[in-house]
Amino acid sequence: MAPLKGLILSGGKGTRLRPITHTSAKQLVPVANRPVLFYGIEAMADAGIEEIGIIIAPETGPEIQEVAGDGSRFGVKITYITQDQPAGLAHAVLTAEPFLGESSFVMYLGDNLLQGGIRELVTAFQANDPDALILLTPVDDPENFGVAELGEDGGVVRLAEKPKEPKTNLALVGVYMFTAGIHDAARAIEPSPRGELEITDAIQHLVDTGKRVEPHVVRGWWKDTGRLADMLEANRLILDVIETRVDGELTESQVDGRVIVEAGATLLRATVRGPAVIGAGTHLEDCYVGPYSAIGENCVVQDAEVEHSILLAGAEVRGLDGRMESSLLGRDVKITRSKRQPRAYRFMVGDTSEIEIL
Ligand code: G1P
Repeated sequence: MAPLKGLILSGGKGTRLRPITHTSAKQLVPVANRPVLFYGIEAMADAGIEEIGIIIAPETGPEIQEVAGDGSRFGVKITYITQDQPAGLAHAVLTAEPFLGESSFVMYLGDNLLQGGIRELVTAFQANDPDALILLTPVDDPENFGVAELGEDGGVVRLAEKPKEPKTNLALVGVYMFTAGIHDAARAIEPSPRGELEITDAIQHLVDTGKRVEPHVVRGWWKDTGRLADMLEANRLILDVIETRVDGELTESQVDGRVIVEAGATLLRATVRGPAVIGAGTHLEDCYVGPYSAIGENCVVQDAEVEHSILLAGAEVRGLDGRMESSLLGRDVKITRSKRQPRAYRFMVGDTSEIEIL
C-alpha cells in the first residue's frame, strides 16, 4: 500500500480569536508555549507519516511557513499548498489533490488538539480498510459542529453541518482519514448555505453512494482551540502533563509543582506554582505566577499576580493590584499600573480587544 500522507488545514481567518488573529495565524497561537499547529504535525510524525501537506491562506501562509519550516525538525517533509479563498474544508481537499494523488491520507484541522495522538486511528484505518474514518466525541453544544447520526449497527447514517436542531450530541472531531475517493465526493457536492464546500457533505456523499464510512468515538479529550475559553482549556490540558524542568536562573524564588523554566529566564523573589511554563528570556520579579499559566519568551511579570493565562512573546504585566486571570495577551502587549494620582484607566487597545475589570 502507498504510504499514508498527511494534510493539515492551516488557513482560515480565526475570527473568534480576534484581535490576536489580526496579526497572527490562529494555528500559531501557543498552547503551553508551543504553536498549536506543532501538536498536529507531531501527532502525524508519531503515527509514521512522513509527507505532510499544509494548506495555508495567502495572508497568514508566510508566517506559518517561517515557523514550521520544511518539517525536518519534526522528522517529516512539509509541502505548503495555498488555498486562495476560505471556501471550505472539502475545497481544501481538492486544492491539495495534486499533492495527495492516489494516496490515502489523514486530514487534521490545524487548530485542533487530540489527546493521545492518532497512531491508534491510523492502525485501525489500515486494518479495516474503510473508504473513510471519522472521529466523533460527545459535546454539550453539538449545534456548533458537524453532527453524526449512527444506525443500529453503529455505522454512519447521516451527517449534518452545524444543525440548528442536532439529532445527537456526537460532534465530528477535526481529524479524518480518507482514501482517494474523497476527491470525487468533494467534486460532487454543492456549497452549503454558508457558501463553503463542507467536508461533512462530502462524507455524506460517500455514505449515500454506498461507501464505507467508519465512525470512531475518541476516548481522550479533544479541543478545537477556536475561542479563548477553549484555548485556555487546551493550555490546561497540556500543562497538566508537562515534566518539571528548571533551566533558568532562580534568585530568592520558589517553584512548586509541574513547572518548566526555560534556560535564560530569570526569577527574582518570584513564586511560580505549577503547572506552568516560563519562556526563555522572561523576567519574573516580586510576583506570583499561578497554576495553568504559559508565559512566553521575553515577557516580564513584575509586582503582579498572574494565573490561568497565556502571554505571548514580549508581553509585560507590571504593578497590578489584583490578580490577572483567564487572560490571553498578544505579542508585546503591556499592562502596567503606576502609583501616580489621580488614579484612572488609560488604554490603547487594538480592534475587537476585550477588557474586563472585575
Ligand atoms: C469544522 C467542520 C465541523 C467540525 C469542526 C471541528 O468546523 O466543518 O464539521 O465539527 O471543524 O473542529 P469549522 O471549525 O470549520 O467551523
